[in-house]
Amino acid sequence: MERPELDGRGILVVDVDGEFLKESSRLFDDEVATASSLADAQKLLADGEIDLVLLGPSLATESGVRDASFLAEDDSDLAVVVVAGSVNAGLLRAALRAGFVDVMEAPLDPQKITEATGHLQRMAKRRTSQPPPVEPFARPHREAKVVTIMSAKGGSGKTVTATNLAIMLAKAHDPSRVCIVDADLQFGDVCLVLQLEPKLTIVNVAHEIDHLDESLLESVLTKHPSGLSVLAAPLEPAFADEVSTATMTKIVTALRPMFDYIVIDTASMLDEMLLSLLERSDQVLCVVDMDLPSIKNAKLALETLRLLKFPSSKIKLVLNRSNAKARLDEGEIEESLKLKISAAIPSDGMVPASVNEGRPVVESAPRSKVAKGFESVFKLVAGAEGKGSERSGKRRWLS
Ligand SMILES: Nc1ncnc2c1ncn2[C@@H]1O[C@H](COP(=O)(O)OP(=O)(O)OP(=O)(O)O)[C@@H](O)[C@H]1O
Ligand SMILES: [Mg+2]
Repeated sequence: MERPELDGRGILVVDVDGEFLKESSRLFDDEVATASSLADAQKLLADGEIDLVLLGPSLATESGVRDASFLAEDDSDLAVVVVAGSVNAGLLRAALRAGFVDVMEAPLDPQKITEATGHLQRMAKRRTSQPPPVEPFARPHREAKVVTIMSAKGGSGKTVTATNLAIMLAKAHDPSRVCIVDADLQFGDVCLVLQLEPKLTIVNVAHEIDHLDESLLESVLTKHPSGLSVLAAPLEPAFADEVSTATMTKIVTALRPMFDYIVIDTASMLDEMLLSLLERSDQVLCVVDMDLPSIKNAKLALETLRLLKFPSSKIKLVLNRSNAKARLDEGEIEESLKLKISAAIPSDGMVPASVNEGRPVVESAPRSKVAKGFESVFKLVAGAEGKGSERSGKRRWLS
């Protein structure tokens, strides 16, 4: 195994378990300091030679992290990384609150050590970089524009639309201000389509809903390489019941100030959960496939929304597989649904291929016709209508 590059940095490994200390020292060719208690660690830190502390699994509990929080408090230049036997939301939250820079899963390996030492470079860069100039017209408080993707028939293309849209928003905007929420609680596959393996999901938020805050949400979100944040669906359908409608709406409300755009992928069910998500949305993209059952169901769903007095100005019709062989007349579709087609995505074999590859077409083939189709969806969302603050429909439309 290749020896990690230390670049002369002082590293201290702290753990009660002598075996972990021995194993870690071996990974660093014995060029690290070790301490078997926090008291010993404090003495070693007093010498000022240490830049990075690795807190081992026997201290990696919520209370252990709280006890160790003085490490980062005493020295803001010190990077503390927790190496835990298993990572959970409570531990992540405790580590964030303590000002620690990362939580990783044991066992340590050279790659994880490179990741840990990478934090030192980033901290050094932050110290030397100038503070960003103050934007004279920066809005003091922003709220995300919430865009919900719905369809009245399964398999219409909601998830591919939602994921391609979110990636485009992330690329065109600040990626750290874009989030996709997988609200298809039973069979959500946003992470699959984006080739992500979430450590934590919306279920972990549901379990801690009484402590819902920004740091809890931060710790549960999964990051896509583009910088996009993903709130993953439960890993198994059985866990869907653990996320109630009230929980879901609290989560979306809490996410709003954290992002500029929130894209919500949903299941094809016109149920209480979807209705309450629609109520909190600035824009609703109704995806309709180019076939009769899809159009029939869309008609029924849209009529239901009209009966419920949902503001129709928020709904945009997105026609998927617009060039399908069994081509229907677009004018007839618009007349039947009493809605203009606002964006169209052609049918293309690249879409299922991109799903299998875990790379949305707007990334893998941005110049393709189908990517241009997704771009028309992106323009609907990011175009002239601007961002969340223009929300007019504060009035409840459901009673
Ligand atoms: N424009 C398109 N061209 C070719 N294939 C497409 C297109 N849109 C979607 N598909 C394919 O159709 C399938 C269903 O798409 P997707 O998963 O996005 O639908 P969905 O509405 O999210 O389905 P579900 O209701 O099951 O969640 C996927 O395999 C996808 O690759
Ligand atoms: Mg889907």
